[in-house]
Amino acid sequence: MNNLIKKAALTHELNHEEILEILSSNDLNSELFLAADKIRQEYVGDKIHLRGLIEFSNICRNNCLYCGLRRDNRNITRYRLSSDEIFNLAEYARNKLGLKTVVLQSGEDMYFTKEIMCSIIARLKTLDIALTLSIGEKSTEEYAAYRQAGADRFLLRIETTDKDLYHRLDPDMSWDNRRRCLKDIGLSGLEIGSGVMVGLPEQTLSSLADDILFFKAINADMIGIGPFIPHPDTPLKNCQGGDLELSLKVMALTRLLLPDINIPATTAMETLAPNGQLMALQSGANVIMPNITLAEYRKNYELYPGKSATNCVKDDNLSELNNKIASIGRKISSDYGFHHKVL
Ligand code: 5AD
Ligand code: SF4
Repeated sequence: MNNLIKKAALTHELNHEEILEILSSNDLNSELFLAADKIRQEYVGDKIHLRGLIEFSNICRNNCLYCGLRRDNRNITRYRLSSDEIFNLAEYARNKLGLKTVVLQSGEDMYFTKEIMCSIIARLKTLDIALTLSIGEKSTEEYAAYRQAGADRFLLRIETTDKDLYHRLDPDMSWDNRRRCLKDIGLSGLEIGSGVMVGLPEQTLSSLADDILFFKAINADMIGIGPFIPHPDTPLKNCQGGDLELSLKVMALTRLLLPDINIPATTAMETLAPNGQLMALQSGANVIMPNITLAEYRKNYELYPGKSATNCVKDDNLSELNNKIASIGRKISSDYGFHHKVL
């Protein structure tokens, strides 16, 4: 095996130049993917954790240049689910589909105050599920209150660790504040989920190497990595977009350096190629997030084109997903899928 890949698999440490060297050549991609698959098996096993995704509001105060939900996009119908609708979906996820984790995701919708959010959290936690939130940048007190109310995890991608690029792509937002949020999430006792997009305009391989080191520095419990896919109703509509291979490489390196964390095979990977998710599951990933949002809402939650048609639940017994997972010799996990630290 190539020496650098071997070193990563044995020590789970690489420096910036070493990561960059692996990212810069495609000669050893299959070796890299194989090594990440092996480390995944060794540290987190063959079971795949499912997280039922509920996209409960597409209203967002932000204007991220890459995202279809940005506030200046007038071509989508905005919606917000009621507390009852959210609860009913979560109940369906738990009792019909047998899912042990529900992820509540939304734009930064200011309707959901700390009080409203905490009452939703408390109600959902009567369902014997692990609960993940993905609702954006909040205050220190808000993260602590979500945890107190019963939330278990929080997803907030850093998007890129290149501050200048971040500030160009996320007008009026501050990279330092996002970093602060990740610190507060950790301090509150919530599991920390983060991640980046791959293939953003003017993103360099060197900054992707920094991203991977950043995941280690923040002690992430989960990392989601997906290609950037240009959305026609955004200022980045004519950009190139990310490719699957490079996204898989960043993901595989993340598995080698953070061997025991949870890593989803992201929907964006599946959107780019019909077998993108299976490739990811064989290159380091151990989580899938099936979308359980109702189709009438889901079609208005297109962060990028094709998202709403990908990775949705088609039947009440998950047989399609089961078959897909069985086709690569894996099984659906029946536990909550928390991060068990080995290292
Ligand atoms: N392509 C791929 N991923 C995107 N996201 C937002 N817009 C896009 C896009 N055009 C990702 C961001 C965000 C997550 C919810 O979706 O990383 O954090
Ligand atoms: Fe809003 Fe998130 Fe989209 Fe940015 S990426 S516009 S914060 S939903």
